[in-house]
Amino acid sequence: MRKILIVFFIGILTSYASNDKYRLMLRNNASTSVVIGWNQISGTNPMVYYGKKDHNTNFKKYSNKKSPDRIVQFRGMNNHFVRLINLKPNTAYYFIIKDSEGVSERFWFKTAPGKKERISIISGGDSRNNRKSRKNANIIVSKLKPNIILFGGDMTSGDTDEQWIQWMDDWQLTIAKDNRMFPLIAARGNHEKENNSIYKLFDVPHEKIYYSIPVGKQYLRIYTLNTEISIPGGQTNWLKNELSANKLDDWKIIQYHKPMRPHVSRKKEGTFQYTNWANLFYNYKVNLVVECDAHTVKTTWPIKPSTKEGNDEGFIRDNKNGTVYVGEGCWGAPIRKNNDIKSWTRDSGMFNQFKWIFVSSESIITRTIKTDNANKVGELSNNARFEIPDNLDIWNPSNGAIVEIKK
Ligand SMILES: [Fe+2]
Repeated sequence: MRKILIVFFIGILTSYASNDKYRLMLRNNASTSVVIGWNQISGTNPMVYYGKKDHNTNFKKYSNKKSPDRIVQFRGMNNHFVRLINLKPNTAYYFIIKDSEGVSERFWFKTAPGKKERISIISGGDSRNNRKSRKNANIIVSKLKPNIILFGGDMTSGDTDEQWIQWMDDWQLTIAKDNRMFPLIAARGNHEKENNSIYKLFDVPHEKIYYSIPVGKQYLRIYTLNTEISIPGGQTNWLKNELSANKLDDWKIIQYHKPMRPHVSRKKEGTFQYTNWANLFYNYKVNLVVECDAHTVKTTWPIKPSTKEGNDEGFIRDNKNGTVYVGEGCWGAPIRKNNDIKSWTRDSGMFNQFKWIFVSSESIITRTIKTDNANKVGELSNNARFEIPDNLDIWNPSNGAIVEIKK
């Protein structure tokens, strides 16, 4: 009996926390900054203690501390954000959150390289409805340990307090066993009723949810666009200026929610995206575009917008200068039949998945990862994040498992 009681009390002590729903985001350069976000449940004066040395939960020993830059009550959570800047590239940082009631677990993250070194990205979206599938994908994130996660909207189906609370709880599964966390870049989907759903939960740098995040210097820039607000006008002007100001970047990746040319026939064509963005992407040599929303699977050959003979829905293949489009959602939303294939579609399918993308100075390599077998997948070590873990279910369609974009 005594033993049972002791186990019971230890259970209470270790499960108690005055904060939860931890998340990392990016609003500046991925090599030198991060945003730490969480839900503050109780207690006062929460403060992040952090540094390059791991002092576990011994908060007094950390070299730096910072109070929240932003606090916003939203979707049933007391969202706190601490923005860390001027960090050292390619460096591990350890942190805890201390408040009047105690100290959180110790978490850590690593900034992206400052040089043109290989980085790993996971990109997908549409996690509404099926929590089991959503959790599976999250578990695989924790095992692949990417530098960055791109999430293309439709996190929940109803955008309600309850659903967001569940989403944030499920997101904790992306944290690795050693408490390493991975930063997220969020886009807005049509199931987010307002820009605020992203702006207030992920502390993105622009209230209209279009922004770009550089990685290193003139290496990679990740653009997030918003298909749920006006596409012509301010947003497209911004995109044009941003692409023009950053022409010298080696690589450009873009994410947004609704595809230009969905591979599900009952989905509307993305006429505004096509008219305003397709030529910009081509002219500024955007390498890879990740689309979501249709809940199906596609990769395309490199394509360019064209109305000439032989075009299919306004695109023709251009192996030399074209843009590769991949997608379309499947992080837990109901999957749909891929019944709208184009002449320039490379491969397509129908299953739960996300994209696993390696960027190096020579190439961008994209694989499609099937996420249903999450619990069987091996965990990569922190020093071997570009290896293939045991049992990882990599989609191997007729045109090959690897989509390679060469410099
Ligand atoms: Fe959607």
